[in-house]
Amino acid sequence: MDGTAPDYRPDRHPSESYDDILNRDTRPVPAFLRQGPTPDIGVDPVPAANYFSAELFAKETEKLWPKVWQMACREEDIPNVGDYQIYEIVGKSFIVVRSAADEIKAFYNSCLHRGRKLVTLNGCKNEFRCPFHGIAWNADGTFKDNPIAWDFPQWRDRDMSLPQARVETWGGFVFINMDPDAPPLASVLAPLAQHFEGYDYANRYKAVHVAKIVRCNWKVAAEAFMESHHSIATHPQILPFLADANSQYDLLSDFVSRQFSASGVPSPFVADRNYSPAEIIQAMRGVSDRTRRGGLSGDAVEVPEGVTARAYAAEQARQVLGAEDGWDYAGASDAEMVDSLLYNVWPHMSFWAGYSPTLVYRWRPNGLDPESSIMDVMILKRVPKAGPRPAPVPVHELGIDDPWSDAPELGGLIGIFEQDMGNLPYVQEGLHASGTGTVHFSRYTELRIRKLHQMIALYLKS
Ligand code: FES
Ligand SMILES: [Fe+2]
Repeated sequence: MDGTAPDYRPDRHPSESYDDILNRDTRPVPAFLRQGPTPDIGVDPVPAANYFSAELFAKETEKLWPKVWQMACREEDIPNVGDYQIYEIVGKSFIVVRSAADEIKAFYNSCLHRGRKLVTLNGCKNEFRCPFHGIAWNADGTFKDNPIAWDFPQWRDRDMSLPQARVETWGGFVFINMDPDAPPLASVLAPLAQHFEGYDYANRYKAVHVAKIVRCNWKVAAEAFMESHHSIATHPQILPFLADANSQYDLLSDFVSRQFSASGVPSPFVADRNYSPAEIIQAMRGVSDRTRRGGLSGDAVEVPEGVTARAYAAEQARQVLGAEDGWDYAGASDAEMVDSLLYNVWPHMSFWAGYSPTLVYRWRPNGLDPESSIMDVMILKRVPKAGPRPAPVPVHELGIDDPWSDAPELGGLIGIFEQDMGNLPYVQEGLHASGTGTVHFSRYTELRIRKLHQMIALYLKS
């Protein structure tokens, strides 16, 4: 670090940094994984009411959600003309439809006559005919047919096409935005889009998609996945292999933040246990279905003398993943094979970087309820080198009382999610019960959460 660079160490855990861990890796890492900006954005408390106030929620409904880019579905979910997916957010509903081979549109899912939703299930249609009185629109949103047209003089000679939200795509995802004046999606995603070029999100398929209703405000759910302070109390089983306190947090822009946590390196909280590499690998295998980090659970663990658990895990991941999808991972850095590299995009999405099957999260309010939310968990796998592209799975919906174990496709992540989600209803209740009316975020590790609240405040003020 040269003399002009800011010194981050005073605000950091005294153990080695994520950068230090990268310096020991077996391959050079891309420059963008190195320490990014961590501006000082203060330590002020935040009102607990941010998570339950009906007034604040109404402002979010009016001033936040109609202004932001939101991932609505994957392009692969609507491969054929007429295929559509419904995306809903705070009482609004959109029909995201492939209106032509190379065109996707998003229509407000509301009949221009008396407002009935045009569709309530995902599907494929060459027309959207309202089930109430039978007025119809084409798949491209143009007006098609009105069986009671004789009684509508006011519609004659007018454009009666379905109103649209804006649509843009990145990485095989379809995003919508209700604001005609919003900046383009690319300006929100930068620099994530550049960092993710090698991970080829567009050439991945949705192998898992679970959407669960959770008993807490959408921000409570999102924030449970934005810091590693909770590992020590909530996920003690990962401490033997996850360098939690050493994690790196960066604010890359107003819209993109990230957290990097190293795998195969024990938490500083258990450094005195002196886990052997084999013990570290065994601990990883218990929760490593996503990345195959550490190899397959049935295989013997034989870590050669002088090889670190992290290097061993990364090599196992290269070989197991390469055997599964046929791609060559020989040059992939250890970090990109086994680490948790979470990028968050304003205001409610998270995309994991790296070559392994990547996690994608989305959090949003459950309808117009400030006290419940929907968390989507997707796992995207690379399309096998030899093809063909596997079909994406449909969304598996879990109700508010359904356990994550009802979605066995999540594999080793189930236990982690159960632990995370076990806290959340009690966070929501505890926020109401607060004696001070405030919550406090830590200065460094919870930097990204503080930024989220600052950005929301900015949008609600406008
Ligand atoms: S409400 Fe749709 S046709 Fe009447
Ligand atoms: Fe967690």
